[in-house]
Amino acid sequence: ASRGSHFYPRFHLAPPAGWMNDPNGLIFHNNLYHAFYQHHPFDESWGPMHWGHATSPDMVRWQHQPIVLAPGDEWDRDGCFSGSAVDDNGVLSLIYTGHIWLNGQGDDSAIRQVQCLATSQDGIHFEKQGVVLTPPEGFMHFRDPKVWQEDGSWWMVIGARDDSDRGQVLLYRGASLRDWQLDRILAKAEPGMGYMWECPDFFAVGNAHYLLFSPQGIQACGYHNRNLFQSGYLRGCWRPGQDFIQNGDFIEMDCGHDFYAPQSFLAGDGRRIVMGWMDMWESPMPSKREGWAGCLTLPREITADAQGRLRQTPIHELMSLRGTEHPVLPCILENQRQSLLDCAQAMELELNWDCCESHAERYGLRLGAGCELFVDSQSRRLVLARRYPDEQLNGDRSVPLPERGDLRLRIFIDRSSIEVFVNEGEYCLSSRIYPQQDRQLQLFADHGRALCRGGSLWMLNDI
Ligand code: FRU
Repeated sequence: ASRGSHFYPRFHLAPPAGWMNDPNGLIFHNNLYHAFYQHHPFDESWGPMHWGHATSPDMVRWQHQPIVLAPGDEWDRDGCFSGSAVDDNGVLSLIYTGHIWLNGQGDDSAIRQVQCLATSQDGIHFEKQGVVLTPPEGFMHFRDPKVWQEDGSWWMVIGARDDSDRGQVLLYRGASLRDWQLDRILAKAEPGMGYMWECPDFFAVGNAHYLLFSPQGIQACGYHNRNLFQSGYLRGCWRPGQDFIQNGDFIEMDCGHDFYAPQSFLAGDGRRIVMGWMDMWESPMPSKREGWAGCLTLPREITADAQGRLRQTPIHELMSLRGTEHPVLPCILENQRQSLLDCAQAMELELNWDCCESHAERYGLRLGAGCELFVDSQSRRLVLARRYPDEQLNGDRSVPLPERGDLRLRIFIDRSSIEVFVNEGEYCLSSRIYPQQDRQLQLFADHGRALCRGGSLWMLNDI
């Protein structure tokens, strides 16, 4: 897809051709990172789901591998849906959802979803092993198994929807990957919290447990939940054999336009890493004109802050992409625009603003025609604004400014994407952007003065 393409990324994992959605089966196995993903190789739109595959020594440089799962058996006739990967005594094993439409393609009211196993001796070729788990009574939407090993057992969380249309996560315990018992309902939507919870993940960071999932059907409210679907987490306490005691509300994982279905895994050195799908079901996806759609976010390390909120920071391995560095000197801008680069295609930018000394109505960065990342002084929010009327893509996403001190931004731009990390990962905004010819990168301050403390800009190498 990359040749002659305007939007294809230089340093993100995207499908070689065709469609990509959720990351699946992220794992470090035999000294190699594996990323599998929902993939339709024959078309730039979603269709019968396959599992694409790529491997990497460092989570940065990815090599495409042959497709590992294709639909077509009686239990996964219409799709090999999302799932996860584990090391079962040295055998790389995939647990995925087999999907069947009972009334024909696209009719979500009559489907069959079961959990299936596939195994590999060499990490490249996989053999399907058939169905290992069918849904309990009353559940039709039953998908996206995330499996891990703990306390001498296998565990699995599954996203589900019952007759009352309340999203939930079911927890199973396994004596082996083929032998599962329902342990309990781990969490269930309160009214308004979504009719289906997709792609769950469940893990400890510090003393707390985090249930990460992607609910469908939460209504937007103020600045929150602005996308068609969200991804976020509940924090709480859990021990094997006990209930998950929640503590606090659902927190969005990323506040940009395009972030869904994130999954976490452990790096070789024990860091917990998360990657998401950087697109959104409702998006018109202009890259389809080039025969491809979807990419994964950069890998992010997750840690918990003193309040137990998750922070996300780009993995340090990404610094190995840095090429030429251009310092950005401190400056005062007053009703003015200042060009940093004529063409921002693949770069990283670190930039600090003094919010106490900046009084302009709006100040920040322009990222080519159609995209701005700026402080709106009135609402005291950092706004990522997209205006691509020709692509039917308009709208703002935003996060609050830090209570005090500077605004510290770390920004990755990769042709058709931007990922913004605010104040060491307190907030993230990930969005797809679609600049045409004009990719000029500028600093600006409108209606007043702003104090930029400067930073650095790196051109990034291709992977
Ligand atoms: C999430 C999702 C999953 C499903 C997959 C199908 O984006 O809807 O629930 O397994 O995509 O491609």
